[in-house]
Amino acid sequence: MPSYVVVGASRGLGYEWLRQLSSDPTNTVIGLARTPKNVQERLATDKISNVHLIQGDMSDNASLIAAAEEAGKLTGGSLDYLIVNGVSVNYEEHFLSPTDYIGKEDLLTTSMLDSVKVNLIGVIFTINAFLPLVRKSSIKKITVISTGFADRDLAEKSTISFAVTYSSIKAALNVVVAKYAAELKGEGIIFLALSPGVVDTSADKPKQSTEMSPYVKEKVGIMMTDFKRIYPDWVAVPLTPTRSVEMQKGVIDEMTIEKTGAFLSHHGNKNWL
Ligand SMILES: NC(=O)c1ccc[n+]([C@@H]2O[C@H](COP(=O)([O-])OP(=O)(O)OC[C@H]3O[C@@H](n4cnc5c(N)ncnc54)[C@H](OP(=O)(O)O)[C@@H]3O)[C@@H](O)[C@H]2O)c1
Repeated sequence: MPSYVVVGASRGLGYEWLRQLSSDPTNTVIGLARTPKNVQERLATDKISNVHLIQGDMSDNASLIAAAEEAGKLTGGSLDYLIVNGVSVNYEEHFLSPTDYIGKEDLLTTSMLDSVKVNLIGVIFTINAFLPLVRKSSIKKITVISTGFADRDLAEKSTISFAVTYSSIKAALNVVVAKYAAELKGEGIIFLALSPGVVDTSADKPKQSTEMSPYVKEKVGIMMTDFKRIYPDWVAVPLTPTRSVEMQKGVIDEMTIEKTGAFLSHHGNKNWL
């Protein structure tokens, strides 16, 4: 009876994790969401009754400690798999390049600090809150969802100059994952920073973040063209959330303590597309 906690499970890839994991009735599946009520309604519509929802905000350490306590009651005091999936992105600045911030210093500062709060410190809060449960498991796998954008080699090869905040904070996150691995390898806890590929999760995003202005369309076009140039064999079609989670799960299942701290793609290597 493996147990899973998915953090940031309200929509997109996080919700897809809940959907897939709950299809095996022997799994104990727990989703953390900032607003569980909305997710509960969606689960009911999808006729999924074996997912436990707990309130949890990655920027609120007290909520995570309380969530871990509640999760422990559902699992009998241990946790096999922790998947930290949630992310905060400010679409007001996501498509800006470094020099676009000239004259927009306040926007840069606010966005960077918000991103650090959720996407970096929030992940550390989350891992530390659930660590006592993971320590009691015999499986002990902690996965943090990263992005290929955080790979410096890809950044150097590409001409994509936007996603400055998102990419740099996720890159820092990859180092944090390696630091956890360095500290806890001796306890047999397996850490992974995992990129899910390019995935179309737009159907679930708030409308204002997916409405593409000509400016954003141009940036996305540049990204797709550049990915295709770097990876000529790529089909240039985003993955579905279903396929991405299937592939991510395959990579997590293959993780061993020898590979702890790795930063891998959904292919289990450094092919980010
Ligand atoms: N989609 C892609 O192509 C892609 C590519 C590379 C990497 N990734 C990574 O994959 C993960 C999922 O991506 P996605 O496309 O599914 O993202 P998404 O659709 O934007 O969903 C983000 C999730 O994070 C949650 N979240 C935001 N702030 C939170 C907080 N403070 N505490 C807890 N949860 C919070 C959101 O919950 P609310 O509903 O409460 O806002 C939502 O469930 C992210 O880590 C992302 O960086 C995605």
